[in-house]
Amino acid sequence: MNLKEAFIQYFVEHGHVEIPSAPLIPENDPTVLFNTAGMQPLIPYLLGEPHPKGKRLCDAQKCVRLTDLESIGDKTHHTFFEMLGNWSLGDYFKKESIHYSFLFLTQVLNIPVERLAVTVFEGNDIIPRDEVSAQIWQSLGIPKERIAYLGVEDNFWIAGESGPCGGDTEIFYFRSNDKIPKEFDPQDDRWVEIWNNVFMEFNKDENGKITELSQKNVDTGMGLERVVAILEGVDDNYKSSIWQEIIASIEKISNKPYTGNEISMRIIADHIRTSVFISADPAGIKPSNTDQGYILRRLIRRAIRHAKKLGVDTNCDWMEPIAKEVIKKYENYYEEIKKNQEVVLEVLKNENDKFNRTLEKGLKEFDKLLTHLSGNIIDKDSAFKLYDTYGFPIELTEEMATEHHLKIDLEGFYEKFRAHQELSRTASKGKFKGGLMGHSEIEIKYHTATHLLNAALKVVIGPDVHQKGSNINESRMRFDFSCDHKLSDEEKSKVEDLVNQWIQEDLPVSMKVMKKENAIKIGAEAMFIDKYADEVNVYQIGDVSLEICGGPHVEHTAVLGHFKIIKEEASSAGVRRIKAILE
Ligand code: ALA
Repeated sequence: MNLKEAFIQYFVEHGHVEIPSAPLIPENDPTVLFNTAGMQPLIPYLLGEPHPKGKRLCDAQKCVRLTDLESIGDKTHHTFFEMLGNWSLGDYFKKESIHYSFLFLTQVLNIPVERLAVTVFEGNDIIPRDEVSAQIWQSLGIPKERIAYLGVEDNFWIAGESGPCGGDTEIFYFRSNDKIPKEFDPQDDRWVEIWNNVFMEFNKDENGKITELSQKNVDTGMGLERVVAILEGVDDNYKSSIWQEIIASIEKISNKPYTGNEISMRIIADHIRTSVFISADPAGIKPSNTDQGYILRRLIRRAIRHAKKLGVDTNCDWMEPIAKEVIKKYENYYEEIKKNQEVVLEVLKNENDKFNRTLEKGLKEFDKLLTHLSGNIIDKDSAFKLYDTYGFPIELTEEMATEHHLKIDLEGFYEKFRAHQELSRTASKGKFKGGLMGHSEIEIKYHTATHLLNAALKVVIGPDVHQKGSNINESRMRFDFSCDHKLSDEEKSKVEDLVNQWIQEDLPVSMKVMKKENAIKIGAEAMFIDKYADEVNVYQIGDVSLEICGGPHVEHTAVLGHFKIIKEEASSAGVRRIKAILE
């Protein structure tokens, strides 16, 4: 039996009801990106609301902690992990809780008492020193020298700034072949924390005021990955049975052994596993530039870069076999993994394709940058170009900089980043104001030609081309779009020809009003997705273009006449500008 099953079975036998893991992305809490602890979805019940399943619960909760993102690559950190937990919602308190933990560790997992030590809360001006817990531990055979009293920093637990909280007692395991010292020193890192029992009897409000809760709760958390590694006697979590098949598939794809390539392999393993869980979650997160979507993007792109470091040809769907190992491992316990596996594989594939298109060039740009660098700081423009043109999350550029003992002008980068966002917002306001008002016939034609040009660029340059802005007057149209190179004469004439071909085909232009989410589903192009109302106009031209747009447009394309590009030039970093006329 594995640890998760043993844990659940033990607590069910002791009167707890197993509840399913809540989604990774909190359903009712916009203040956090991901669940970071088993108690988070239970907050209302810890505050006193009756839980439909009763007063004793247990589960394995999916968690993501981003505070550890930079540490990934070492032996013990993971962005995603499973937290085993048991709860008393106003039922049992310290005595039973400590007994349950102790007996599970020593009798079910057969951990020798000599390898265990504990910390308890030393108390402060509000909560007394926790002699009660210390007494209980001693009664179970933990000697005095193995009990350390620590302060608020270590033995008082709260998720974030406010909410249910309380003193805790933490259980440590001696993870070393050295002789076990008689006295427990919490600073000695051969002792690793394996379980935290929080006695939640207080609530801290937004102003920092602490009051007693109406009920005394117990909230515990045990990190599954860490304890499995301990039980299996490995000092590297990634060598435990949890990771075996995943690491083996990375070895196979890279044709390299784990030994000697640990850091990149751990990062790939960790990030793909977390990406599988994020994209399988019911919230339907896709890689993007904000919130959870940005984390997902960062994780996938960082994994891709490390695969490249290992010599993997990332121009194929190299992540799929690794992701499939993750799916196989978890699909029986987490039904969303089974249900959404197609979506997960597609998310990984699409993001891989997307990043691959610019990765090579971005890496070259970075190398070029190194040769021109004066001093050891990467300037804001270069960092922004890597972000905007080549899709390098700033954290990835930072990581690469660190590898070369360089720093980035981060302040400058964020200044530019904000200015860029502001620009998009202003442009978007302009666009809506533009909408249906006061367009002459020729302007309406240019408007439709803009959609055709956008579609033609996607065909000729690539699907990654996106509109960055446009401007129309009586005598010409101007169109800005993301693209990393100057268009060749051949590309320009191909674009012109394609637009003219579509004009000659006299394609019908139609408009439908639909819900924004449906428009996205059917693949409508949208420049400022967050700024649209819930209902949008979707304009379709033949089967070549589908765009969310305020209009107005011509009814069929033949009226546009002849389309001609008169200029192609740089607009800003990674953005090109075309000026064109209809004649
Ligand atoms: N909520 C406690 C923790 O995460 C158990 O450590």
